[in-house]
Amino acid sequence: MTVQFKPAETFRDTFTYKKSPEDLLRFPFPFPEDSYMYSVNIEPHVRGGPTAAFQAQFDVDEHYIAECKERARVLAEDPKRCQVLPHMLTAEWDSLEMIMENLAADYPEHFTLSKDGDAWTWVNRPLGIQQSFIFGKAETLPCGPFEYITRQAQGDFTLQDQREDNLFVDGGMVTTQADWSLEFDIGMSFQEWHGPVPLAHEKGVFDRALKYLLRLQYGQPVRRLNWTMTVNPRLDTSPENYPVWGPDKASVTPENVAEKVHLRVELQTLYRLPRSNAILFGIRCYLTSVADIAKVPKWRRRLHRVLRDLHPDIAAYKGIPRYQQMVVDYLAPLDDGSATSPGI
Ligand code: HEM
Repeated sequence: MTVQFKPAETFRDTFTYKKSPEDLLRFPFPFPEDSYMYSVNIEPHVRGGPTAAFQAQFDVDEHYIAECKERARVLAEDPKRCQVLPHMLTAEWDSLEMIMENLAADYPEHFTLSKDGDAWTWVNRPLGIQQSFIFGKAETLPCGPFEYITRQAQGDFTLQDQREDNLFVDGGMVTTQADWSLEFDIGMSFQEWHGPVPLAHEKGVFDRALKYLLRLQYGQPVRRLNWTMTVNPRLDTSPENYPVWGPDKASVTPENVAEKVHLRVELQTLYRLPRSNAILFGIRCYLTSVADIAKVPKWRRRLHRVLRDLHPDIAAYKGIPRYQQMVVDYLAPLDDGSATSPGI
């Protein structure tokens, strides 16, 4: 079925973002069990999976045009949301190729990539773009190759350089993040940028995840799901903008909790890049209100149980204690107590 884009929807101020019924059913619900704890939940990123969100390498949905517009707005206000260190130029071109080729393969009705040696032409129909350029020559594009292509994709992206048996976040396009800052993290190692996360270091989660990623192979991308909660369907919850969105937390009441509070899921993908040996990390954000979650019985039961029993350190890290109990109280009468089966 062809997706109907909704170019006018907003993720700030008027918050006109809404999910169609089809969009709700493709939501990547993140909980395989009734309880949640950090783990190395990495699996191959193959096309196919529990919902349509897993059918493409870089998922495009009905919010595509509106999300690209929102990214352009954030960058106009704060250009430092896109930064790439100079030694990552080869990784920039690798990323452009990876994203263009996959978008064209997964959505031929929307994107076309033609190549004549190094002379490439890129057509992006939803955004009305046709661009000819020479692969490897940055001056033939309107901006750097990584910025160019990530302005045309949903979700954030970071670039990791691999050296000294470690990964360093040496670039990124980060405009839809859950309260972390590229400007602060750029140049940090895997353990350093994960520094603020509670419990996971002691459990060895990051040591094991890093070991796994250092061996990531070209052509065998992997994925994992991460989640948090956000008040209002706001994409840009950056520390830079905390004064804008932080006070929203105080606006949640038992009357508006289901409409205001959103489950924020990140479908994270990791690709080894062919020339640079760097890793491209995609963080694709999906927002669904608690009211929409409540429409699906197995989702509302499970979200209720996960939030009710969540470790307080994880709740505090995710910034949800102020309204967590209100969500639990809303969902509790909708949980019929029946057993849930493992899986999503
Ligand atoms: C959180 C980046 C891969 C597990 C975070 C944060 C960042 C980040 C910036 C927020 C830290 C903060 O509060 O400032 C990245 C990047 C990756 C990567 C750039 C690419 C290599 C992974 C992998 C795992 C993982 C492979 C697998 C276990 C986590 C967990 C959290 C986290 C559990 C806490 C999330 C939450 O509770 O909301 N990551 N990460 N990350 N990351 Fe990663």
